[in-house]
Amino acid sequence: MRVSVIGCGHLGAPHAAAMAELGHEVIGVELDAEKCRALGAGKPPFYEASFEELLVKHTGSGRLRFTTDMREAADFADLHFVSVGTPLRKDGNGYDVAQVIGAVRSLVPLLSRPATIVGKSTVTVGTVARLQEIIDTDAQVPGVDLVWNPEFLREGHAVQDSLFPDRIVAGLTSPQARAAIEEVYAPILARGDVALIVTDPPTAEVLKSAANAFLTTKISFINAMAQVCDIAGADVNAVAYGIGIDPRIGHGGMRPGIGYGGGCLPKDVAAFTHRVGELGAQEAHQLLSAVEAVNAGRAPAAVTLIEKAHGSPISGRTIALLGAAFKAGTSDVRDSPALRLAGLLVERGARPVIYDPEALAAARMLHPELAYAETVEQAVTGADLVVLATEWPEFTSDPKLPIAAADLVASRVLVDVRNAVESDAWVAAGWEVWQLGRPPRR
Ligand SMILES: NC(=O)c1ccc[n+]([C@@H]2O[C@H](COP(=O)([O-])OP(=O)(O)OC[C@H]3O[C@@H](n4cnc5c(N)ncnc54)[C@H](O)[C@@H]3O)[C@@H](O)[C@H]2O)c1
Repeated sequence: MRVSVIGCGHLGAPHAAAMAELGHEVIGVELDAEKCRALGAGKPPFYEASFEELLVKHTGSGRLRFTTDMREAADFADLHFVSVGTPLRKDGNGYDVAQVIGAVRSLVPLLSRPATIVGKSTVTVGTVARLQEIIDTDAQVPGVDLVWNPEFLREGHAVQDSLFPDRIVAGLTSPQARAAIEEVYAPILARGDVALIVTDPPTAEVLKSAANAFLTTKISFINAMAQVCDIAGADVNAVAYGIGIDPRIGHGGMRPGIGYGGGCLPKDVAAFTHRVGELGAQEAHQLLSAVEAVNAGRAPAAVTLIEKAHGSPISGRTIALLGAAFKAGTSDVRDSPALRLAGLLVERGARPVIYDPEALAAARMLHPELAYAETVEQAVTGADLVVLATEWPEFTSDPKLPIAAADLVASRVLVDVRNAVESDAWVAAGWEVWQLGRPPRR
């Protein structure tokens, strides 16, 4: 099938490469000329596991190319994915859907034959109805269908999740639109293990928002339990494990830590909270407001833990901060809890020195005022305290790190605000290990 992917950012670019891998001929449309050039040259503008290989493979195979010209996509493709950004509005009151409206407004009048527009961006319930009005008024030809196909991929696993999604949700209103979705995802559906959930468009919009709302509710729940455990002298990791055995609860999303971040969850929950308030769903609004409040308290809770671990004010102290990305597996630093923590440490007069295996360039661009190190050794040398802020395996699972770092630091105190390390290797190398909601290990 000939498809376009409009908006080639963290979602769209891996999706475009995945569509080529499925056998489609793909054209990616990206407004940012520099990003577009880089993608076309097989160079990812951000780190995402396995993405570079697929991009190189299919820009090489000729099945994937990129353009800044919407007309080229309109002429070429029969199905158009829309994966442009939906940031939070500046006043925080819901999404700014200007990119989505803009992309559809510029595409629709250029279509000269029947086509399917497939929205993947996360939008407020009601947005699809607005886009349908644009199609109804601006389409020059009959047979332009609209489908809402929200995306559930996890950053850091974008390629894997695009090729092997756990579900395909399609909000649509016509048999032609359903046929187009079944055709574009045919290689995935043929495997027989993926649910195709066909709904009306508002249900697809709410389904995506509800998925993120539930995930963040789980994260905030276990983080609130970490607070309880801190006060009660209990161990939240054991609590999470013990309650998660119940299949109604489960272990997914139940690792306590510094809170959710990134380009999706914070703004999606904020926008949904605002929207449910607007709709008058009061209990939903209260629930989601509490989820957000817990999350907002996590970076300050991490600072409190760091101060406790240090045993005296941290002003003037050098802190090796391992991690800048909002989570492991990506260079994305949008709304990163690690960088939020760095900012709070600076406010307390400490000097965080940040190292991240993939996100240094992005972090430097966003926060040039912070201090960075090129290697983990450089970051920990002379540090009064080491803080693990992103759960990269090279920080959490390398048995050599506790031993190598032990000789470089000024004091062997590790504060793991992701509750991600197995403390035994660190304790054996002479470290004190502090984690959220757990007694310290020595
Ligand atoms: N990043 C994820 O893992 C993820 C997962 C699920 C859903 N989403 C949703 O997908 C959407 C995109 O997220 P993202 O993280 O990829 O954002 P992003 O900001 O990384 O990418 C958006 C891209 O769209 C481009 N763009 C904007 N208007 C355009 C236009 N008219 N024509 C061509 N290109 C245009 C921008 O230049 C940018 O590169 C959001 O709604 C997000 O909530 C993202």
